[in-house]
Amino acid sequence: MRLRRLRRTPALRSLVREHRIHPRNLILPVFITEIEDDPTEVASMPGVFRWPVNRLEKVVEAATAARVGALLLFGIPADKDAVGTQASAPDGIVQRGVRELRRVGFDGVVITDVCLCEYTEHGHCGLVGKDGTILNDPTLERLADTAVSQARAGADIVAPSAMMDGQVAAIRDALDEDGFQDVAILSYSAKYASSYYGPFRDAADGAPRFGDRKSHQMDPPNDREAMLEHEEDVAEGADILMVKPGLAYLDVLRRTREEFPYHPLAVYNVSGEYSMVKAAAERGWIDERSVVLETLVGFRRAGADLVITYHALDAAAWLSDQD
Ligand code: PBG
Ligand code: ZN
Repeated sequence: MRLRRLRRTPALRSLVREHRIHPRNLILPVFITEIEDDPTEVASMPGVFRWPVNRLEKVVEAATAARVGALLLFGIPADKDAVGTQASAPDGIVQRGVRELRRVGFDGVVITDVCLCEYTEHGHCGLVGKDGTILNDPTLERLADTAVSQARAGADIVAPSAMMDGQVAAIRDALDEDGFQDVAILSYSAKYASSYYGPFRDAADGAPRFGDRKSHQMDPPNDREAMLEHEEDVAEGADILMVKPGLAYLDVLRRTREEFPYHPLAVYNVSGEYSMVKAAAERGWIDERSVVLETLVGFRRAGADLVITYHALDAAAWLSDQD
């Protein structure tokens, strides 16, 4: 009876609790659709919908009530082409979404995903060369144009997820040149080539039509290399770092926290992680609420300041009455 003394009552346990997470530390991904007129549930992600722009007010109401910190916007455009023209179009789906959030007075942070894979007909995150390789430098300009167009629409933070070398520098330069020195960059700095992204690719209709993302996303067995990715992105001007996915990469998250102690650090609790919990909970095999809360505080314990999660609305409600 020595270590058990402080575990005796809920009040004692709460008093000595080391880590807590707050709804404001949660970021809710939102899919905005140009191809559906009604909110449409994603088959592989129960409880996640694609929202038409004119229905986004509903999401804002829910996010405001839950007091989540930010929304992270992804677009499903009506038109795709080889260069992802709609990603940077002034009236593109995400740009319209940002303006709608502003119009209805959303008071949280608006973050926009910067990538081409939802906007290219081949489904790749960058421009594709004749031999099928993903071209790095020609893609940078497209990403920079996309980020600037999102800033013009009113984004607070842009979040490049394409994993092209030099993307943070290209975006920072372009934002500064256009007068958006105050728009921050949340870099998907250590993003792995993960099979846990499967349900997202249904949700965002962004699966590659051929090949894979292994020539630009990180190789899952690598850990030191993630530190190189963070280092480059810090040097290029990233304001917030990220590790993605979360659960299989908690060691990387912890190491990042230790080696980059001064930057805010986000973790992306990705689609496959969400869907696994939902599927098991639907079968009654796990208790969704306690599993989700245990996972979220696990990210915090490992070193995350911010968690991007599809559970954000439910979790925020559960957290608001936490001890
Ligand atoms: C697009 C992008 C992906 C995710 C976020 N942005 C998919 C991918 O890289 O294939 C994954 C998010 C998730 O699985 O929840 N670049
Ligand atoms: Zn992409």
